[in-house]
Amino acid sequence: MKNILLLCGGGGSEHEVSLRSANYIYDELEKVNLYNVFKVEIKANGDRVDHHGQLCELRKAGELYYPSSDQTHKLDFAIPCIHGPPGENGVIQSIFELMGLPYLGCSPEPSQTCFNKVSTKLWLDALKVPNTPYIYLSDESRESISAAEEFFNANKDVYIKAASQGSSVGCYHVTSLEDLESTILSAFKFSEYVLIERTLKARELEVSAFEYNNEVVITAPGEIICPDGFYDYDQKYSNDSATKTEVNAKGLSAEQINDIKSYSLKAFKGLKLRHLSRIDFFLTEEGKVYLNEINTFPGMTSISMFPKMMENHGVKFSEYLRKIIEEST
Ligand SMILES: Nc1ncnc2c1ncn2[C@@H]1O[C@H](COP(=O)(O)OP(=O)(O)O)[C@@H](O)[C@H]1O
Ligand SMILES: [Mg+2]
Repeated sequence: MKNILLLCGGGGSEHEVSLRSANYIYDELEKVNLYNVFKVEIKANGDRVDHHGQLCELRKAGELYYPSSDQTHKLDFAIPCIHGPPGENGVIQSIFELMGLPYLGCSPEPSQTCFNKVSTKLWLDALKVPNTPYIYLSDESRESISAAEEFFNANKDVYIKAASQGSSVGCYHVTSLEDLESTILSAFKFSEYVLIERTLKARELEVSAFEYNNEVVITAPGEIICPDGFYDYDQKYSNDSATKTEVNAKGLSAEQINDIKSYSLKAFKGLKLRHLSRIDFFLTEEGKVYLNEINTFPGMTSISMFPKMMENHGVKFSEYLRKIIEEST
């Protein structure tokens, strides 16, 4: 039996979602019946607690140590099931690298690049992957606010986003110049950079991108159908969310599907993503495809789009995990 560390929590704004994803992954790993899974939660106070409530520590050389019993387990593989910092931004990945512990997902560099919405856009531009028109601010100076006002006046309707956040935290829809500056200041409370984008009237499509049998698979696009147009935190996670998801988006042209697939592959290969990502798009009313963002560790609850699109493609999530673990250990 291989020892698998399933690390979750992290104490950030996506802590609770990460626990839900970890429960799903735990059940999928149990199906394989080849692993001892240590599901360890990083609590907000920094404690590490396993699923039996035991305090433990992740130590150098990839070991899990239990101070109460003085026991050590040598780990074979880690799954950083944390959405947002420190799991999706390259920090945990760097620690695994240092320990020589194989792990699921992207290495530190693409994790960090994709978690920052500004660096993602700079890379997408360099790779010639269409994305929404934007500017970014690196401070709250008068000059920055003027640049934002100019961008707003040219577009009249914008999204203001903290650069290093997910789950729509620090993300605001702004339609009046009066609200611009205060909203920028709110976004700066979350991140050191702030992105301002033109609002698109668009459908929200996404694909699962994953490595399987030495190939990068890009699934058929699924769709998020959000009645208010803004897929905010409550729409994403609350039980009474009015948002519907469709594992196979309807009515797309062959060209649109082809654009989505080719931009996804360009991003996956160009940014050197590894194992998995969910790649999100906008499809405008004029039929243009824009890449919105790359999630290197997307939500993985039983109702999440990433595993659903993978299974819809014909790959069982448990079998995908088994293969990655087999190849990595
Ligand atoms: N430029 C845009 N035009 C229209 N809607 C947008 C735009 N940017 C973001 N949104 C809305 O806000 C949501 C969250 O933005 P996103 O960039 O995906 O951040 P997060 O990483 O928090 O998911 C999107 O799913 C979409 O509903
Ligand atoms: Mg998003």
